[in-house]
Amino acid sequence: MTKNNTVTITDNRTGATYDLPILDGTVGPSVVDIRKFYAETGMFTYDPGYTSTGSCESAITYIDGDQGILLHRGYPIQDLAPNCRFLEVAYLLLNGDLPNKAEFDTFEQAITMHTMVNEQIHKFLEGFRRDSHPMAVMCGVVGGLAGFYHDQTDLSDPHHRMIASHRLIAKVPTIAAWAYKYSMGQPLMYPRNNLRYAADLLQMMFAVPCEDYVVNPVLARALDRILILHADHEQNASTSTVRLTGSSGANPFACIAAGIASLWGPAHGGANEAVLNMLEEIGTPDRVNECVKRAKDKDDPFRLMGFGHRVYKNYDPRAKIMAQTCHEVLEELDIKDPLLDVAMELERIALEDEYFVERQLYPNVDFYSGIVFRAMGIPTSMFTGMFAVARTTGWVAQWNEMFVDPAQKIGRPRQLYTGPTQRQFVPLDDR
Ligand code: SDX
Repeated sequence: MTKNNTVTITDNRTGATYDLPILDGTVGPSVVDIRKFYAETGMFTYDPGYTSTGSCESAITYIDGDQGILLHRGYPIQDLAPNCRFLEVAYLLLNGDLPNKAEFDTFEQAITMHTMVNEQIHKFLEGFRRDSHPMAVMCGVVGGLAGFYHDQTDLSDPHHRMIASHRLIAKVPTIAAWAYKYSMGQPLMYPRNNLRYAADLLQMMFAVPCEDYVVNPVLARALDRILILHADHEQNASTSTVRLTGSSGANPFACIAAGIASLWGPAHGGANEAVLNMLEEIGTPDRVNECVKRAKDKDDPFRLMGFGHRVYKNYDPRAKIMAQTCHEVLEELDIKDPLLDVAMELERIALEDEYFVERQLYPNVDFYSGIVFRAMGIPTSMFTGMFAVARTTGWVAQWNEMFVDPAQKIGRPRQLYTGPTQRQFVPLDDR
């Protein structure tokens, strides 16, 4: 970060001027440093939804929304997704560089050794209704992990932070798979140390004790790539939630549970489930226009799920890779999913429609992911859970970065107060 220029603002009520430092990063928009703004002006800045606010300095992920660029530690997602394993990208996000073979093997082994969860987790699950949404289960169980490692989580110890990070990356897939199995009333399947990350997740979700289960390599490779596409994405809502929660020094397992809660929302990671429900509701390509009409109607709260993005005002680069993966998986499995035809027609019409063009609304990462998950036999209710499995790595990397940031303080925004000014209290008997 370099600091040499300023912006000057003038308060036209008093004529007072304020010089605010401009901070430059390595690429992308510079920032105006307003840390002293309230002390100097007596005013707060106002930015609900943080459309123009940088909350932190980060070196993990860079997004150029206008160009549709996504870099993880400088590597384009187009290079990482087809050429890496998910755990290679996890290592990159956590450590800043891609691992060599020895580093990768050590990291993969470390994660593999943490995939089992305490047997008490069985009792956690039994407390939920069988028809609980898997994200409710994941939120509760991941947060509950905080109760198992409190004596080994001295956050001032980098080694403890690293082990907590490995535990989270390793155990969230197990918890996601167990949430699914529990909802099906099937026996929980334990992780297998001879399987790689994505293959093991598929095994835990779809194997049963009565017979051997052979992981389909096409599905394992596709899932591994999809996990890469969902691993991290700058300061999105759930990552910002993890950072804000972590800024108070909260237990890392509780911080990730907070991230899961935020991701669940249909405006965020819950959109992949909402896309599938939307496509099923549309049913056939000839009914797409009706859906687009509703999405444009200001009086209708309906939005085209899987479309639009706070940052991307161009095609989400992940959506392009996801669409390609979608076609590859359906072709290799010889599946003809009519919802893919609906999705493609919806995309074609929306991208030609002035309402979407004018607002720069393009398909985002969630638009095609559900169709691929469906082809893998993953139920709609588990789509966001898959997103949470992947994003746990990004959340953990961002949490670690926050922890060692010298500028980091507890997050405590202010407000524009528009409530009543002080007034006389009237006792109940006199009201
Ligand atoms: C993810 O932040 C991240 O990086 C998130 C994510 C990640 O990897 O972490 O990329 C993952 O969350 C992807 C987004 C998934 N959500 C959806 O697909 C839900 C549908 N999309 C919208 O809800 C919306 O586009 C958001 C929430 C994604 C972005 O909302 P913004 O940035 O607050 O945009 P906005 O609401 O200000 O919309 C601008 C205009 C509005 O119209 P006007 O008031 O200007 O007339 O565009 C319209 C909106 O009504 N609009 C849509 C729309 N998205 C925006 N209209 C119809 N359908 C949509 N999907």
